[in-house]
Amino acid sequence: MTADVPEEIESVLISEQDIAAKVSELAARVDADYAGREILLVGVLKGAVMFMADFARALHTPVSMEFMAVTSYGSSTSSSGVVRILKDLDREIADKHVLVVEDVIDSGLTLSWLLRNMRSRGPASVEVVALLRKPEAAKVNVHVRYVGFDIASDFVVGYGLDYAERYRDLPFVGLLRPEVYEA
Ligand code: IMP
Ligand code: MG
Repeated sequence: MTADVPEEIESVLISEQDIAAKVSELAARVDADYAGREILLVGVLKGAVMFMADFARALHTPVSMEFMAVTSYGSSTSSSGVVRILKDLDREIADKHVLVVEDVIDSGLTLSWLLRNMRSRGPASVEVVALLRKPEAAKVNVHVRYVGFDIASDFVVGYGLDYAERYRDLPFVGLLRPEVYEA
């Protein structure tokens, strides 16, 4: 099935089919690595919501799910690393195997802060699965065990990712025309 592409999208970077194949591949790796354990998926709202939903269903390992919402001060297209919690976890994560589910690692500043925050709560382990990563944009080195796609530093939307809260519902990841965010 081919999705309708709005005119603000310059091109489709990762198709719905390619995302689905990658989600299955990542889930199979995680199933193998966590055999015999339970996983606590911590989804980072709102960007990770589509990925979290598909990834959780692709896993065979038993999971529970928590969500956290954070905001990073900065412009709408780049982050500063100064993070504020908008919604915290509902439960303690002590002694749990935490797998943080992220949409995209850009500078890595948000994730680096989040990992420090998670580790301070005494989990049994903490790892990260990110659908997308922009290696050229990295400002801090964070270890991400599972990465879907390495992409260029361009601003992308769709499959959970927004620009000004729009385009999260697109089933693919697409490049936003620069005119849209330069306007
Ligand atoms: P970082 O702190 O620079 O790594 O930023 C991470 C967060 O910025 C992500 O979780 C996204 O919410 C947002 N972000 C970074 N790049 C993009 C993008 O290309 N499109 C939409 N959101 C993005
Ligand atoms: Mg995000």
